[in-house]
Amino acid sequence: MSDKIKFTIDDVEIEAEAGQTILQAADAAGVYIPRLCANKNLTPHGSCRVCTVKVNGRSQAACTQPVAPGINVESESEEIKAYRKSLVEMLFVEGNHYCMFCEKSGNCELQAVAYRLGIDAPKHEYLFPSRDVDASHPEIFIDRNRCILCGRCVRASKELDGKNVFQFVGRGIHKKVAVNSDAKLSDTELAGVDMAVSSCPVGAILRKRVGFAIPVGQRLYDAKPIGSDIEASRTDK
Ligand code: FES
Repeated sequence: MSDKIKFTIDDVEIEAEAGQTILQAADAAGVYIPRLCANKNLTPHGSCRVCTVKVNGRSQAACTQPVAPGINVESESEEIKAYRKSLVEMLFVEGNHYCMFCEKSGNCELQAVAYRLGIDAPKHEYLFPSRDVDASHPEIFIDRNRCILCGRCVRASKELDGKNVFQFVGRGIHKKVAVNSDAKLSDTELAGVDMAVSSCPVGAILRKRVGFAIPVGQRLYDAKPIGSDIEASRTDK
């Protein structure tokens, strides 16, 4: 008897391993569900809610919700797509995301997800925050105006680099990513090669002196939308 778990996403039957999340099973089957705080090398965090799906009619985060036999998952319904779009629009207005002159443009997951969701211009008012920029480190800088609080740097520093360089501090609109030093980034053990740096999906944590190295047209999401790599491996084609 097969020990695979069968369920459906948008009426497509998916086979999953026990213990997988809906996002992991969808990825393995070549079905792309948008996400921002999730990264396959990190423990799921479930904070951005961009991966929201409906499971038997109830909203759940696909990156933290385990698969179960026979569940009916809706991912591409008009309601879910509108919800994701609204979430991503709010992320854009809550920070300062000036894609046209950000060196992460073309390689930025927030920008790529926005394109994929068909966002032209956010409907909400821009907040234009003024947050700390720390460029004290010789190789890396952090611009909190672009941070979406996904926590990937926090988890990567702890789980992959074994350093705990980044942590969240504060609550609500005062929540931010802090570093484990009293003063500045240069006082931490962060190194340019750390996964905490490359795990940032936006232009908040960047290496110095490598910006704009790849010309427009050759950047990660210039040729194909985000998620195309997952969809290319779809198993029911
Ligand atoms: Fe699932 Fe962020 S990707 S909540």
